[in-house]
Amino acid sequence: MNSWVDFWNGEHSIYVNEKHKLAHSRKVFNDITKWLSDETCSVMDYGCGEALYAEELQHHCKNLVLVDSSENIVEKLRSRTVGQTSVQILHISDYNKIKDDTFDLIIVNSVFQYLNGSETKDVLLFFKRILKKNGKLVIADIIPPNHPILKDVISLLKFALINRFLLASLIGLFKTYFSEYTHLRKNLGLSFYAPQNFIEMLSNRGFRARLESENFGHNQNRFCFIAEKI
Ligand SMILES: C[S@@+](CC[C@H](N)C(=O)[O-])C[C@H]1O[C@@H](n2cnc3c(N)ncnc32)[C@H](O)[C@@H]1O
Repeated sequence: MNSWVDFWNGEHSIYVNEKHKLAHSRKVFNDITKWLSDETCSVMDYGCGEALYAEELQHHCKNLVLVDSSENIVEKLRSRTVGQTSVQILHISDYNKIKDDTFDLIIVNSVFQYLNGSETKDVLLFFKRILKKNGKLVIADIIPPNHPILKDVISLLKFALINRFLLASLIGLFKTYFSEYTHLRKNLGLSFYAPQNFIEMLSNRGFRARLESENFGHNQNRFCFIAEKI
C-alpha cells in the first residue's frame, strides 16, 4: 500500500467499533447541521467516509451529494441509499458530472491532511467552481504543524471514555500503531497547515476565509475554517 487513498479504501481500525462509529457520526452530524441555513440548501460532503448520518442529513437539506475517493465506501453508500432520491453518491473521478454553481454548502471534515499541497489547491479550485456565489465551504480537522500525536490520542481516549468504548479504543490504538497507518505516516506523512497559511491559500483561490472557534468532532486541538466564495 503506498497511498492514503489505498489506506482509506481498505480495512483499518481507525474507528474501533460500532459505538465509536456511531458516536463519531452523531457528533459530525451535529457539527454539520449548525451550518445548514435552511431546508432548501444543496450540500456536498467531500471525503464523506461512511457518513452514517447521511439518511438523517438529507431531511435537513434539498439535496445531499456525498463524495469519496474510496471505491469501497462509494459502493457501500450507494447500496445503503438506493431509492433515496435526494442523496447522490459520487466517486472523486465523477467530478466533471457536477455543474458550476451547484452548492450552497460544502463540508470537508478530516480530509486535507491526506492530500498533498498541490492536490489541496486543485480541490479548492474545484470547490470554487461548484459553489454558488456566497456559498460556504467549511473545512474542519486541519492539523497544525508540530502537532504532538499524544494530543490526538488523549482526545480520542476522553471521547471513548464518555461514549463507553475505552477498552476498544486502547486495542484500536495498539492495532493502528502496528498497521499501514504508521508506515504511511512515516513514509508519506500528513499535510499540516498553520491557520494563517491555510487562510492565505483560501484567499488566493477566491474565498473570504476565517478560523472558527470550534473544530468538528472531539479533537479541539485541530482547526476549522469557514470560507465564502466571493
Ligand atoms: C478521516 S476520514 C473522514 C471521513 C468523514 N469526513 C468523517 O468526518 O467521518 C477521511 C476520508 O477522506 C477520504 N479521502 C482520502 N483522500 C481523498 C481524496 N483525495 N479525495 C476525496 N476523499 C478522500 C477517505 O476515503 C476517507 O473516507
